[in-house]
Amino acid sequence: MTAPVIAPVLATGDVAVHFGGIKAVDGIDLALATGEILGILGPNGSGKSTLLAAVTRLVPLTRGRLTLDGADYTTAPPHRLARRGIARTFQTVRLLGDLTVLENVQLGADLHAGRAARLRELVRRGAVPEVAAAVERTGIGDVLDRCPGELSYGTARRVEIARALAAQPRVLLLDEPTAGMNHSERREVADLLRRLRDEGLAQLLVEHDVQMMVDTCDRLFAMNEGVGIAEGAPADVVREPAVQRAYLGKAAHGAGDR
Ligand SMILES: Nc1ncnc2c1ncn2[C@@H]1O[C@H](COP(=O)(O)OP(=O)(O)OP(=O)(O)O)[C@@H](O)[C@H]1O
Ligand SMILES: [Mg+2]
Repeated sequence: MTAPVIAPVLATGDVAVHFGGIKAVDGIDLALATGEILGILGPNGSGKSTLLAAVTRLVPLTRGRLTLDGADYTTAPPHRLARRGIARTFQTVRLLGDLTVLENVQLGADLHAGRAARLRELVRRGAVPEVAAAVERTGIGDVLDRCPGELSYGTARRVEIARALAAQPRVLLLDEPTAGMNHSERREVADLLRRLRDEGLAQLLVEHDVQMMVDTCDRLFAMNEGVGIAEGAPADVVREPAVQRAYLGKAAHGAGDR
């Protein structure tokens, strides 16, 4: 097993989330370093999205501990996390259909700065710098005045990433960000994530595309039925017999269209 040599920006200690008798997540220890992409690999239903929900405080923990820069946030309310530097995208695109693309992206910035009430005024004055940067990075400049319903699936996903970046996070959690994208769109997103990594952004990335995960991630953490089964260098993890059995033995597929 390899572990980051510097102190983790985000860590989970024995995190468990049970839904009645279902142990969706059952004792996960993760440590994410600054400037690292840690990939989470696992078959459908293995607990990846539940783990991200636990880390972003969207489901209650059955047990365990969450820390950000060493500070405990196990009981922090989820709406506080943007200000503390954690942003995420969802497996199913969650954009506000009544707002334009630009307004959706600005919501990310507003969450960060706590200025939601001034959204309309900010929109009228033009993009704030963090929004302009997020738009530029994700290449959505041509669709700013559109509504989410008019966008292709791949573009809507890039808008979600832009909204997360507008919050200027230090930790970004991405749940199947390229599901529904074509090959060249996937490569563009993978390139973007690597550039962000090189600028120091720590990322937890969930994806089913094994080759993309090997190419994109610095480390992989494989899980099955709520528990970790392998962790380390991507090429090593995907060769582990336990991972081959759990992941490659089942017909895993992207679930972004659900
Ligand atoms: N809110 C919930 N209530 C009850 N069970 C849930 C809930 N959310 C998830 N589960 C169950 O927890 C387990 C893990 O689900 P989860 O969505 O975390 O898996 P996943 O690894 O993200 O799967 P996929 O690759 O299909 O997205 C599954 O058995 C799922 O049915
Ligand atoms: Mg999922």
